[in-house]
Amino acid sequence: MIAYLNGGYMPLETARISPLDRGFLFGDGVYEVIPSYGGVPFLLDAHLDRLGRSLAAIRLADPLPGAAWRQMLGRLLEKNPGDDRSIYVQVTRGTAPRDHAFPASTLATVFAMVSPITPPGSALPETGVAAVTLPDQRWGRCDIKSVALLANVLARQQAVDDGAVEAILLRDGFLTEGAASNVFVVANGVVRTPPLTPAILPGITRALLLDLLRAKGRVCREEPILEAELRAADEIWLTSSTREVLPVTQLDRQPVGHGRPGPMWREARDLYRKTHSGAGMESSDDQ
Ligand code: PDD
Repeated sequence: MIAYLNGGYMPLETARISPLDRGFLFGDGVYEVIPSYGGVPFLLDAHLDRLGRSLAAIRLADPLPGAAWRQMLGRLLEKNPGDDRSIYVQVTRGTAPRDHAFPASTLATVFAMVSPITPPGSALPETGVAAVTLPDQRWGRCDIKSVALLANVLARQQAVDDGAVEAILLRDGFLTEGAASNVFVVANGVVRTPPLTPAILPGITRALLLDLLRAKGRVCREEPILEAELRAADEIWLTSSTREVLPVTQLDRQPVGHGRPGPMWREARDLYRKTHSGAGMESSDDQ
């Protein structure tokens, strides 16, 4: 794989940054994960908008303004041909002697790499996945896509240790989101997801699904969801750029609804796939 680092393209194994990089020392940086299908980044504008908002929120000037992000990502994809890819982009406040306050001047570190998107297993539409609930121990600005992900890492590892694929986080008795995903619940035919507040990341997949389902006439509500409502849901889905729409069929070892992926999930998954395969790729029903 060819990576991009600070203006150059190189094999990923040879890319190097300084240990004084503020991303390494402080987690002082932001990132994006952009899916790409058939060599075309999906919903690139939305991802670049969110990157711009994350950079502004941490008071870091956009290091690749104008069309420069698009050009760099286009070249990176050319150098890493393939169908289903995810592009990881990270910007940190650069290299400087260690001090918590911002350095007077530094050059941001800009890094990007491409990896294959691993398709969900073929049994998924039959079985779904398991998730566990955990307390949300993150900070107050989860709307910033910060690289400081220690609480997310610990939560995901706890889920994996418990035989699950995701941790679904609860704060003050309400659902927030997954360790690296947004969460939807379905009850009585109504699709619900927590509202956009600093407690969650404004997911690009989340926003697209709300648009697609509403355009089909489905009732979708962005509103606070109580822990008890999560546990009583007919369906639970996880959404993210790399996992698309995943049906959760076990929560804390209890079945969700009938314990099988539900009909609304199937509709949402099909709508999502049709949209990203609109550029000419076929979507297959059997994954
Ligand atoms: N994470 N919430 C959190 C905390 C996330 O980390 C992510 C995605 C999402 C979903 O956002 P989107 O639909 O824009 O991917 C929600 C990426 C995939 C990651 O960290 O790898």
